[in-house]
Formats: sequence, C-alpha cells, structure tokens
Amino acid sequence: MELHEESSCFCSSAAENYLIEKMNEIRLFSPATVANVSCGFDVMGFCLDSVGDEMVIRKTDKKGIRITHIEGFDLPYETEKNVSGVSALAMYDAIDVDFGFEIEIYKKIKPGSGIGSSAASAVGSVFGMNELLGRPFTKTQLTEFAIKGEALASKCEHADNLAPAIFGGFALVKSVSPLEILEIPAPDDLYATIIHPQIEIKTAESRALLPKEVALEDAITQWANFGSLVHGLHTGDFEVIKKSLHDVIVEPHRSRLIPYFDDVTKAAIDAGALGSGISGSGPSIFSLSKGEETAIDVKDAIEKIYSKTGIEFDMHVSKINTQGIKIL
Ligand code: HSE
Repeated sequence: MELHEESSCFCSSAAENYLIEKMNEIRLFSPATVANVSCGFDVMGFCLDSVGDEMVIRKTDKKGIRITHIEGFDLPYETEKNVSGVSALAMYDAIDVDFGFEIEIYKKIKPGSGIGSSAASAVGSVFGMNELLGRPFTKTQLTEFAIKGEALASKCEHADNLAPAIFGGFALVKSVSPLEILEIPAPDDLYATIIHPQIEIKTAESRALLPKEVALEDAITQWANFGSLVHGLHTGDFEVIKKSLHDVIVEPHRSRLIPYFDDVTKAAIDAGALGSGISGSGPSIFSLSKGEETAIDVKDAIEKIYSKTGIEFDMHVSKINTQGIKIL
C-alpha cells in the first residue's frame, strides 16, 4: 500500500498517540452520508451531522475479529457476513498483531435507507481499530479496507459513501483503483434536508436497473453539471450549485421506485431549496439549502406532502459534517 498525502493523515501529537495506544476500547459515531449528490453518480458524497451509528471497538487477547453485540437492526453476527466484519478483516489481514478485536454495533441508520448505512458500518470498524493501533493507516487506506465491507452490501466496489464518512464534508472519489480521494470544500451555511420514506431499496437491485450505456448528449450534460457543482462548492457560489444539481442519467431510472419523488422535489424547490435528488440509491431524498432556516422550511414543505401519503417516514435537517467519523 502506498503512502498518502499529509492532509489525509489523522494528525495527532505524540502524547495523544501514546494515550490512544494505551486505550483498549473506543466508542465512536459513524455518520450517515449522501452519495451521488445528483450529478456525481458513484464519485461524490457528503457527510451528515445529525444521524449516524454508534460502535464500540475493543482490543481482546484472543486473536481474530468478533462481532459481539448488535442493536437496532437484525444483522449477521458472522464476521465474514457482516459489512463491518469484512472491512475489519481486510485491515486485520494487513497487520501482524498477537491480539484481536471485538465489535459492538448500535445501528441507527436503517439498512437500505440510502443514507450510507452499510458505509457507516464498514467505516466504523476500521476507524476504531486504527485508533486502537495508534493510527498506522491514513484515511485513504482506511477507505480501501472499508470498500471490501461496502462491496458485500452493494456487490460493487464504490466509495462515494465511505469517503465522506471518513474524510467529512464533500469527498470526490477520483479513482477507485488506485484509490484517490479529493476533499472538496463547501460553503459554511450549506444544509441538507433528508426525507427517508420507510420502504427499503437494496443498492444492488437499484444498480441493476441502470443502463450499461448512456447517450453522449446526456453524458455531456452530466459532466457539465458535475464540473460546475464542484466549482460552485469551491467558490461558495449558491447560484452555481443550484444550477448544477441535476441528474439526467441515473435519476430517471431510479426515481420511479420512490413514491411521490416528483412532488417532494418540486415542494423542496418551491420552499427555497437549491436542489434535490435521490440520496445514494434511495429511497431517501436529499435537498440542499442555503442556511438552516430554509432547510427547515424545506423539511416542513416535504412533511406536508408525505404526511398525506400514508407512508411512514423520518426527516433530518443537518449541517454538512466537516469532521466525519469521530470518537465519542
Ligand atoms: N453510488 C452508489 C449508488 C451509492 O448510487 O448505487 C449507493 O449508496
């Protein structure tokens, strides 16, 4: 594994490192994330603040990786069948230690919700192990281990939920092999509103719906939108961000799986959102707004629509989480 740039390292003082190495157990917050961000299918994601899983990672005398507790949702305890277990094993295979790790998962992000449930699990184990080992791995290397866990859930190696969960903020996956991640700055007062209709859409199934080829005309529109989204985020230009949040390639195929998708996105725009789209592979829908007040107006407008549908739903308003996964 190659060495990575300084900015992707977890910087800490020697004293901090000493304390971390003495720790045997760590509790952490592993955040939910929004992948794709409309025009950035498989390459862009951002990190949420207000929703995520908690996990406890513990060093044990017994070698190997064991999942000892799962709360919240019914997930497998077998290490090789559990997303966090698989990413932990990928890291464990890369180190030579005479001890093992236990993983406890307090799952709050519903699997199949489209806000990076599997990524939060995959990232939590490797982040926690890295902390307990004294941080030998960079953020990019942790993402590489976590990709193995994510692939168990979505049957494909993608990092657009993992990278923002680890790096925080907006992250652009320039390449998966070799893995290259770029951190994209975003304006301070950018807020997300998320609606999660309580239906399940499996990532693997919603990927299978997508065409293998796209029309050149659509590709041109999409990369123009994506380039301008990155520009808008860099310059903090909300008008440019607003004009860029369109997806002409993936959303037309997937949106029909999400009840009242068009009504929700229209209501969000009418309430002042910069744009809306499918969060990851759905069914969650994200909207981005300038300022918390508008993000709350957007939430209210969407709530009005969905409360008439008879479908249960959750909503979140969140500032963009620039830190990513963190120790509690
Ligand atoms: N980019 C992935 C997809 C994200 O849309 O299939 C899945 O959460």
